Amino acid sequence: MQELIELAKKALANSYSPYSNFRVASAVKTKSGKTYTGVNIENSSYGLTICAERVAVSKAVSEGDRDIETVVVYTDTDEPTPPCGACRQFIAEFNREANIIIAWRKGVKQVNLKDLLPLAFTGEKLGKT
Ligand code: THU
Repeated sequence: MQELIELAKKALANSYSPYSNFRVASAVKTKSGKTYTGVNIENSSYGLTICAERVAVSKAVSEGDRDIETVVVYTDTDEPTPPCGACRQFIAEFNREANIIIAWRKGVKQVNLKDLLPLAFTGEKLGKT
């Protein structure tokens, strides 16, 4: 867990957040043991901004590595930054019960995605097995 947090901390410098100045980094670990990092990437057309978690998960999935086990969200802030609703849904696509680690300057909180996103809308509703 600590190693994954360290990876996110290192990635934080790459956050592209000139509009909010709110830097977020993520690190993902898959079942294979591989790790992927991501940062928030903002856009002058604000709505196109991508969160750090979705960047990290997309990097894993695009490498064919879909079994997301753990997602770290790291901010160098006094308060924790829980993943936004869109990111919860995005992670749930690959693991309803992903281990979510929220790490910040002063602490670490570990939660299960099923507790952050109860009654999730899933592919099963569309006939996916
Ligand atoms: N942000 C993330 O990267 N992840 C989250 O879960 C919450 C929000 C980013 C998006 C935007 O660049 C900045 O934080 C402020 O909302």
